[in-house]
Amino acid sequence: AAHDFDVDTRTGFMPPQPPIARLPPAWESWEAALDEAIRLQLQLGHTPGLPEDEIAKSESWRGRVRSLPILPITDLKRSELYLRRGHHVLGWILHFYIHSLPPNASIVIPPPITLPLLQISAQLQLPPVLTYSDDVLYNWALKKPLEQNGVPALDNLRCLTLFTGTKDEEEFYLTSSRIELKGVEALELMQVIMDETFVGDDIAIRRITQYLTSVATVIQDLRTMLLAVKEHCNPDIFYHHIRPWFRGVDSDPNKRPWVFAGIEEDPSLQEPTELSGPSAGQSSLVHALDIFLGVDQYSHASSVTGHSSSSGKSAFLDRMQMYMPRHHRTFLNHLSANPRPLRAFVEGSKDAGLQEAYNAAVLALKAFRDAHMIIVALYIIGPSRRPAPAFAASAVSAERLDIQKDYHVDTLKGTGGTELVNFLKDVRDRTAGAVLPPA
Ligand code: HEM
Ligand code: ALA
Repeated sequence: AAHDFDVDTRTGFMPPQPPIARLPPAWESWEAALDEAIRLQLQLGHTPGLPEDEIAKSESWRGRVRSLPILPITDLKRSELYLRRGHHVLGWILHFYIHSLPPNASIVIPPPITLPLLQISAQLQLPPVLTYSDDVLYNWALKKPLEQNGVPALDNLRCLTLFTGTKDEEEFYLTSSRIELKGVEALELMQVIMDETFVGDDIAIRRITQYLTSVATVIQDLRTMLLAVKEHCNPDIFYHHIRPWFRGVDSDPNKRPWVFAGIEEDPSLQEPTELSGPSAGQSSLVHALDIFLGVDQYSHASSVTGHSSSSGKSAFLDRMQMYMPRHHRTFLNHLSANPRPLRAFVEGSKDAGLQEAYNAAVLALKAFRDAHMIIVALYIIGPSRRPAPAFAASAVSAERLDIQKDYHVDTLKGTGGTELVNFLKDVRDRTAGAVLPPA
């Protein structure tokens, strides 16, 4: 059954084999356009003081994208892996295209991108925008070949595609990849705990207590791995040069609509409505932990994003499930439908040891979210108050730096579009709220 969910027993939500790194020759023009964007080291269109030749370079790349052939996707449908790679390649081209435009230009996505991207997205039931799966789950290769039947070691990964070519950007994605791989231990424990709740006798309670203690330890390790992003990813580089590439329609400070030119050429296509930028809020692992611990009923109750829902769940986190690979979405639905939810089982047991172990797991998740808020302060709030450092080819004058500062001043939104501080605080507090009081 695990197969239907596309969840691997060794690699979890990451695929056990490296994702394919190139489409067959029929789609070489897409691959070549992406290669070229990377080779040209395209700059963000809003980079202050961008020299004329940089502007010309990116405009001529966009011109070549506009004149790409409109390729049919029929043959890609033969393999899920081709469709995934297609979404990855076109998603990156889309973001290169949009965010290399000058900040005042209107955003018109040309037909050679619009048509295949929307068609592939319809097949995969994904929004036509870069997702966590394009950046993390399906954006890796091995540094050294695997041992036979081996699992990728945490230090044996590199990335396939980067906007900036920096180690900082690569480490940002790989931090999440490593967390996904380590999280497999939590997924295994969740499975055995669910089996034991069906047995439900005293011996089962002792075992579940042990397993929950281990879940807490795994989540503590995830927290440590999250904080380790500091070792290789510089906050100023991240804030000024990497994350603006991720922006979706709802994190654009200029609030420009995305126009998908050519959409009318395929009557089966619908105007996209989901266009939030990528965020680890799309990590199925963290959603799975919330659902399993019963924290989601609490942690998803956010009204600060402006999309409050009456069910008590966060509209944002619910919506992020639409950005996950559809089999993973199905897995989460399956988990939610568990007829013996753990939290109710713990409450009903009136067993102090079990309850303590459950609370330890919830508190570990709360501590993970505390650490995440420290990271957000370091990588977003801090740099938003400082001028941009000089980067790559763009010589930045002091006068221009002030423009950059103003540009970012009132735009403290996550790339997923949330009012990040309130949103994250709320999710963190709701997690803490799931702790059970002494029986
Ligand atoms: C959500 C920033 C790394 C897990 C968010 C949000 C922001 C953010 C701003 C709010 C959603 C949005 O509007 O985008 C950052 C920064 C990171 C980082 C600056 C590193 C430099 C990570 C990593 C993980 C992670 C490595 C682990 C998988 C999450 C989760 C959410 C989230 C699960 C949804 C809220 C929650 O469930 O608590 N992040 N993030 N983040 N991030 Fe991160
Ligand atoms: N969601 C993360 C951010 O807003 C990537 O920076």
